[in-house]
Amino acid sequence: MLLEVHDLHVKAGGDEIIRGISLSIGEHETHILMGPNGSGKTTLLKAIMGLRGIEIEDGHILFNGEDITWKPPHVRARMGLAMMFQNPPRIKGVTLSDVIREIERRYGKPEDDLGNLVEISSLRNRSLHVGYSGGEIKQVEILLTILQKPRLALLDEPDSGVDVENLRRLGEAMNTMAERASLLIITHTGGILKYLRKVDKAHVIVEGRMICSGHSEEIIPLVLENGFDGISGREGCATG
Ligand SMILES: Nc1ncnc2c1ncn2[C@@H]1O[C@H](COP(=O)(O)OP(=O)(O)OP(=O)(O)O)[C@@H](O)[C@H]1O
Ligand SMILES: [Mg+2]
Repeated sequence: MLLEVHDLHVKAGGDEIIRGISLSIGEHETHILMGPNGSGKTTLLKAIMGLRGIEIEDGHILFNGEDITWKPPHVRARMGLAMMFQNPPRIKGVTLSDVIREIERRYGKPEDDLGNLVEISSLRNRSLHVGYSGGEIKQVEILLTILQKPRLALLDEPDSGVDVENLRRLGEAMNTMAERASLLIITHTGGILKYLRKVDKAHVIVEGRMICSGHSEEIIPLVLENGFDGISGREGCATG
């Protein structure tokens, strides 16, 4: 397995937010993560990436067989983890071009021509995320994630607030990434699913617990049609 999360418990702001979650993602697999607002999806991604502001209480995280539970984020990034942020910081005085140049210096030039995948030309000389529209932030975050050539990309709501045309482009960008990487994607609407070539598994988090994990083609329609109530215990839903 590329990623193994074992019985993880995480606190944020003094409260236990993740209450015993386990999750395994294999090489070149795409997994979907769903769940109500405030259920702990972003917190789980932050814990996997090792970001500040959360506190791991128990459990452990293995990446490529190595225990990374206590490793700092820059070490995880070097090992091949990358995260696209739901609410990225705005960075005044540093342009998007500066950031792209720095990522390329660290990770090398991209293998593919990404010019058509994400439309960012008008943003290049503007400070990162300062005054960007919601959809522009998503596109730029996806691009910056791809440029890091991750082995596992953690994508937090790439499809929220993105128009149909850009959704198609983001889907293509994610398919390109999926040829070389594993993906863990949070989505509320499932809007991106239509454009993804391959999805392997889906997971549902409610109140910090994984109430359902299974094949995406069984789980996702259940959630989109019925919501989260009563999904636990349904056929095809494993808990863990
Ligand atoms: N640093 C923090 N301090 C206090 N509470 C926090 C902190 N981080 C997260 N929380 C709380 O933890 C809960 C889970 O937050 P999280 O961002 O993981 O939810 P989510 O599932 O990503 O929701 P959404 O779908 O709205 O993005 C929320 O109730 C949130 O207010
Ligand atoms: Mg979130």
